[in-house]
Amino acid sequence: MDKNIVLLPGDGIGPEIIDAATEVLQVVGKKFGHTFIFDSQTIGGSAIDLYGTPLPDQTVTACNQADAVLLGAVGGPKWDQNPSHLRPERGLLGIRKTLDLYANLRPVKGFKKLLSASPLKAEIIKDSDLLIVRELTGGLYFGTPSERYDNGNSVVDTLRYTRNEMERIIDKAFQSAQLRKKKLTSVDKANVLESSKLWREIVEEKKVAYPDVAVEHVLVDAAAMKLITNPSQFDVIVTENMFGDILSDEASVLTGSLGMLPSASLAENGVGLYEPAHGSAPDIAGLGIANPIAMLLSVAMMLRYSFSFEQEAAVIEEAIEQCIDNGYHTADLHVENGIKVNTKEMTEAIIAAINQTV
Ligand code: NAI
Ligand code: MG
Repeated sequence: MDKNIVLLPGDGIGPEIIDAATEVLQVVGKKFGHTFIFDSQTIGGSAIDLYGTPLPDQTVTACNQADAVLLGAVGGPKWDQNPSHLRPERGLLGIRKTLDLYANLRPVKGFKKLLSASPLKAEIIKDSDLLIVRELTGGLYFGTPSERYDNGNSVVDTLRYTRNEMERIIDKAFQSAQLRKKKLTSVDKANVLESSKLWREIVEEKKVAYPDVAVEHVLVDAAAMKLITNPSQFDVIVTENMFGDILSDEASVLTGSLGMLPSASLAENGVGLYEPAHGSAPDIAGLGIANPIAMLLSVAMMLRYSFSFEQEAAVIEEAIEQCIDNGYHTADLHVENGIKVNTKEMTEAIIAAINQTV
């Protein structure tokens, strides 16, 4: 079956890991009889340099017509001093909003071989396997006004949500929990924030429709603590945009590296976007040593969620697990007596493992 995939390599290590993604997809396509047609478009800093905007119209048009979108990462020191409308992050926020990608799914699963790669004790993280469901198009990052006033000496940011925006992400989280261990932790700050009070009310209303899912409410500060002291208590965590941003970076330490964490951003009916949870890693860009695994796990999520290619997704995930079990690791991960490889070598090892499966 033909699938049209828009590639948004972006900046820094983005293009390096997108190359790994297309190589793996070509192999998987060949194996399973699919044709993946790639259309590369610009976003972020590289789009600013070429077109003077972080989100060119042709990028939006291409994404809207695609079957799925794969994004590398955006941003870098080159554009840090730009005015806010000319910052790479604007491109990312813009595409999320334009495609109405309200549901950000971030699975966090430790690999046995990488237990020692985390600064946390192995016994704490060994059974961690959780999914963070983060609201992605509302809250503080999008609310207006967001500005300085009083001659620049006062500031305001606005945390705004509608009931509908909360309901759809909470439904998504309940449905995700039904497919997993049927436990949902709703994270909020309901002891202080009005938005969190409505959020909690909606979770309480919704849970009637999902009687098989056990629900708990945890305040975000306590959740931050529990995530690294007892992560195995969590199955699905659902939370608003900024809390989810922070908690998902925190959760990355469970896996040993940000380079291991994939994500899917889904719309109600439109196209899905898949990207690693990490950024453009300017400190290692161009060196060819980036860990491609977060990107490749994102590719597996694309195959599963956008195309319902479950078997194809599983083949990639199993190949990655096998390579890690065999000791392969990139420089961001410490593995005792492991085989340190660069981006290309890791990708080749994963492709070899894919080719071995029947
Ligand atoms: P970052 O995630 O790019 O890097 C943090 C650290 O993790 C760095 O030491 C980096 O080398 C390492 N790292 C990240 N991904 C890696 C990989 N695949 N393999 C090996 N090492 C990896 O976050 P940072 O440094 O805070 O931000 C850098 C730039 O990325 C900024 O401009 C930021 O705005 C942008 N950013 C973009 C995101 C996106 O495109 N979704 C998300 C987060 C940050
Ligand atoms: Mg973040």
